[in-house]
Parts: sequence; structure tokens; C-alpha cells
Amino acid sequence: MPDSGPRILFVCLGNICRSPLAEAAFTREAAKAGLAVAVDSAGTGAWHVGNPPDRRAQAVASRNGVDISGYRARQVDPTDFRRFSHIVALDRDNLATLERLRPPGGAELSLLLDHAAGRSGEAVADPYYGGDADFDTTWADVTAGARGLVAALKG
Ligand code: 4NP
Repeated sequence: MPDSGPRILFVCLGNICRSPLAEAAFTREAAKAGLAVAVDSAGTGAWHVGNPPDRRAQAVASRNGVDISGYRARQVDPTDFRRFSHIVALDRDNLATLERLRPPGGAELSLLLDHAAGRSGEAVADPYYGGDADFDTTWADVTAGARGLVAALKG
């Protein structure tokens, strides 16, 4: 992980649907913008630790030209609040969990869609019980948030 520049962690519940897609979209948008960043994702829950992303998440990433098959789920760790400069939650429940875990002076917390124009406070909906169209919506949402976050970090 580079020791200069922003270090961003995306967090959802399972780390198999939304946050891996946010990680992938943000990695691509940062590269396109020439922004050097360290990026990772994690879940507040532990059910899927060690698993690859959900097949439908892999499929929507693939439809958009990104391979996330090598990602593996992990749970948020207390050290993340020191290792990352920004921890970005995909919805309000996960933001509330992170607010409870955050030590004083720990990473700055936000919601991903706070960074998308006109969408502050909105959640990226959980597509786990949905279908492919829901995963397309997830991809559009995480891309909108990622673009706004890259623009904000570029200043
Ligand atoms: P994610 O989706 O938080 O976007 O990774 C979910 C994945 C798994 C579960 C819930 C949401 N689950 O209950 O197992």
C-alpha cells in the first residue's frame, strides 16, 4: 500500500456485492484520473469471509470490463481506522456500525453517495435478494459515487 496519498476502504454488510463493486469502480475511476490511491473493501458482517464476490457481482463487473474474481471477502478490523484515511460506507446501517467502532482520530467516515452530486445521504441499495437488473443499478450507483469521490480527492 502506498504510504502517501489517500487510502480508501469501502464497507458494506457482506463484502461480496456492493463494496467489492465500489472498490472496482473507484480503482478504475482513480486510474483514469491519474490519482494515486490505495483501495480495499470489507464487510461489517463475517458470514462471507474468505469468499469471492457473489457471482452476480462478478458478472456485472465483467459486463463493465473489470475482473473482480480474485477479490476475497474480509471483515472490518479495528486497525482499519488507522490504516485508511477514508472509510466509505455503502448504506446508513453500515455507517452507523462504523461510527460505533471508530476510535477518536480514526479514518474519516462518509456514505458513498454523499460524494455524488444531488444524492447526499442516499444508500446504495442491497442487491443480494435481487436480480441482474439490481446489480446493474448497484454498478451505476457505485460508479457515480466513485467519480464524485475521485473529483473531491483530486481537489
Ligand atoms: P453486500 O450484500 O453487503 O452488498 O455484500 C450482502 C451480502 C450478503 C448478505 C447481505 C448482503 N447476507 O445476508 O449474507
